[in-house]
Formats: sequence, structure tokens, C-alpha cells
Amino acid sequence: MNLSDKVIWVTGASSGIGEAMSYALAKEDCKLIISSRRVEELNRVRANIKLADKDILVLPIDLEQHQHSRDWIKTVMDHFNRIDILINNGGVSQNSYALKTNSEVERKIMNINYFGNVALSKAVAPIMQQQKTGKIVVISSIIGRFGLPHLSTYSATKHALYGFYDSFRLELKDDNIKVLIVSPGFINTNVAINSIKGDGSLMNKNSEAMEKGMQSDVFAQKFVRVLKSDKNHKFIGKKEIYAVPFKTLFPNTFYNLMFKMSKKKK
Ligand SMILES: NC(=O)c1ccc[n+]([C@@H]2O[C@H](COP(=O)([O-])OP(=O)(O)OC[C@H]3O[C@@H](n4cnc5c(N)ncnc54)[C@H](OP(=O)(O)O)[C@@H]3O)[C@@H](O)[C@H]2O)c1
Repeated sequence: MNLSDKVIWVTGASSGIGEAMSYALAKEDCKLIISSRRVEELNRVRANIKLADKDILVLPIDLEQHQHSRDWIKTVMDHFNRIDILINNGGVSQNSYALKTNSEVERKIMNINYFGNVALSKAVAPIMQQQKTGKIVVISSIIGRFGLPHLSTYSATKHALYGFYDSFRLELKDDNIKVLIVSPGFINTNVAINSIKGDGSLMNKNSEAMEKGMQSDVFAQKFVRVLKSDKNHKFIGKKEIYAVPFKTLFPNTFYNLMFKMSKKKK
């Protein structure tokens, strides 16, 4: 798939993976919509991209407020009159034990990572059906294939994305709309710093796994190669991504190893 002139909408474009993907995609001469909550950060990203003003739209959105999806799409359609690729990347992580996580926090993470993501795709898909072509991309996680302490709700949201989009892919096949799930391993971004604690406050502290993770620009180069391909799914990361086939092949050994590696309950 040639990305030149394609209209591509990236959510979570103000930082980390989404920011790096936006830079890599701009080099492919596509047209971009960059979205997230913080407009000043989106403007910073926009300033680093050498696309003409008519070819890039800064569109602030809050995925938690996904009842506004159709308004956001109207703004995009008024500007570009088509949407070729939607990249559902925006999301938040968690840093708290399940028993110490408020149900409001659980709902907030589920609302952003799952309901917001799905609402946007369901609002964009009819436009792609009319166009008779399109691609919906979802950034899940290897944590959408297994769980870790402190990440129960986050993991649940990323598992849920697999369930929804594996079904949606089959439903959209006859409309010539492709669904691609990309699951990163540990990528060196602010995701741990921005993660939400059980009481709703921000973690504001990085994790060693993220610091040692793949650089976001390396991730973005690999991502663009996958986006151009006809693949339905891809894991991108360092050796941590092999935990997924290991769990599938040797589930009991996998769980026993996880018990040993997990820190004591606090
Ligand atoms: N880094 C990793 O190791 C890793 C691994 C697996 C999966 N992922 C996934 O990759 C995606 C990007 O994460 P990242 O690592 O790049 O972390 P990040 O640097 O914290 O970026 C998260 C992005 O999501 C946006 N966002 C957060 N809440 C939002 C909301 N309510 N509405 C709209 N946008 C929102 C943020 O922008 P604003 O704050 O401006 O809204 C930001 O642009 C996430 O879905 C994450 O779960 C990351």
C-alpha cells in the first residue's frame, strides 16, 4: 500500500508512539490529522512536521468524551473529505493493584482505551464503507495477551480490543476495510510516567522496562513497514514479545515463571 496522499488520522499524536508515528508518516507524503487532548503539545508536534497547512489538521479530542465522535469526524471530513486510515493509538496505562484501584479509575481507563477507541472506529467505518476502502489500525499491547501486576485494568482493556477488532475485521471484510492490530512490547515513551494510580492521581515516575525499551522512532519505522503491508497483526518490540508465543505453547510454565518474577504484593 502506497501511503502517498492518503488521509491518515493518528490519535495520541502528542507524545510517544503517536508522535513518532506522525513524523514517520509525514515522510511518506500523506495527509495527517493529529489528535489528543493537549492542543499545545499537538501544535509542538505539528511544528516539527514539514507538511503544508492544507495537508495537516490539528484536532484536539478527548477519547473519554467519545459521544462527540461524529462532531470530530465532521471536522475531518469538512477539511479532507475522506479518511483512508484511522490509527487508534491514544491510551493510558495504570499503576496500581486491582484491590487498590477505585472503580471510577477502572471505568476511566476502560472508557479511554476501549470505549473511546471503538466509538471512533464505529463512527469512521461508515465513511470507509462509502469510499469502498479503508484501514483501521489499533495499538493494543503484548499486555493484551497476558497480565502483569499493577496492570489489571489496562491489560483488560487491551485484551478487549483484541476481542472487538478480531470480530470487526471479519464483519468489514466485504467492504474492503482492513483491520490491523499492532501490539507493542516495551517502547521508551512517557506511558509509565502518565499512568494512573488506583486513586486517580498520576504516577509521574518512569519504569525500568520503559527506559530499556525500544526507541519510539525505531518502533515508528517498523510500524510504517507493517502499515504498508497486507498484514492483519504484528508484535513490535524487543525480546519481551516472545513471551506471547511462549505463553501459548507452555501456559503452565509461563504462569509459574510469572509467579517467580512478580514482585511481592504491597
Ligand atoms: N510505550 C509502551 O511500552 C506501550 C506498549 C504497548 C502499548 N502501548 C500503547 O501505545 C499507545 C501510546 O502510548 P505511548 O507509549 O506513546 O504513551 P504516551 O507517551 O503516554 O502517549 C499517550 C498518548 O495518548 C494520548 N491520550 C491519553 N489520554 C487520552 C484521551 N483521554 N483522549 C485522547 N488522547 C489521549 C496522550 O495525549 P494527551 O495527554 O495530549 O491526551 C498521548 O498522546 C497507548 O495506547 C499505549 O497503551 C504503549
